[in-house]
Amino acid sequence: MTGLFITLEGPEGAGKSTNREYLAERLRAEGIDVVLTREPGGTPLAERIRELLLTPSDDAMCADTELLLVFAARAQHLAEVIRPALARGAVVLCDRFTDASYAYQGGGRGVPHERIATLETFVQGSLRPDLTLVFDLPIEVGMARASARGRLDRFEQEGRTFFDAVRSTYLARAAAEPGRYRLIDAAQTLEQVQGQLDVLLPQMLGLHRG
Ligand SMILES: Nc1ncnc2c1ncn2[C@@H]1O[C@H](COP(=O)(O)OP(=O)(O)O)[C@@H](O)[C@H]1O
Ligand SMILES: [Mg+2]
Repeated sequence: MTGLFITLEGPEGAGKSTNREYLAERLRAEGIDVVLTREPGGTPLAERIRELLLTPSDDAMCADTELLLVFAARAQHLAEVIRPALARGAVVLCDRFTDASYAYQGGGRGVPHERIATLETFVQGSLRPDLTLVFDLPIEVGMARASARGRLDRFEQEGRTFFDAVRSTYLARAAAEPGRYRLIDAAQTLEQVQGQLDVLLPQMLGLHRG
């Protein structure tokens, strides 16, 4: 039995967490073993690294440090959670993965693509998500939803240029590899977004059956 690795990408406020739960319910209703997880984080050690990454601080973090921390957390997450789950045939629904490194550290911070690609291969070997759902929406809409949640984290405090670069990186990656990516119009109502996911569900089930 082969597992299925699905990642959910997009900015804060796009609806990744809400819809990850929705997809998990739908898949579990089919009797599928579903593992819900997130990045950065997903294990106790990786969640500690997440704190370092997200907590605003006067002590500036350089872009390479940020990138290496993200991949350090990812190495732990892969070893402890993702690879074992896939090995036993589960569907892994992961809130953010390496596409976020390309979008945030690459697009947002300007780290060269090749550095990220080098770490991707180093940490993941040949493992890539089977399917990546990109929740896309205008920057103001996502920011409004996210800021309604309270205090902004280290990334949410970035400005418009940063988020423009994040969004355009996600869109460019999705356009370059349409086989792996599915673009979700996340500006629609929650019901409509879930309708878009329902349309994709048979594909997910098909991929999982192999
Ligand atoms: N399609 C939608 N329309 C309106 N509000 C939404 C929609 N999807 C999610 N929300 C709300 O926006 C906020 C952020 O959603 P969340 O799932 O936490 O996003 P993310 O995990 O991508 O940051 C939550 O309060 C959620 O209820
Ligand atoms: Mg979330």
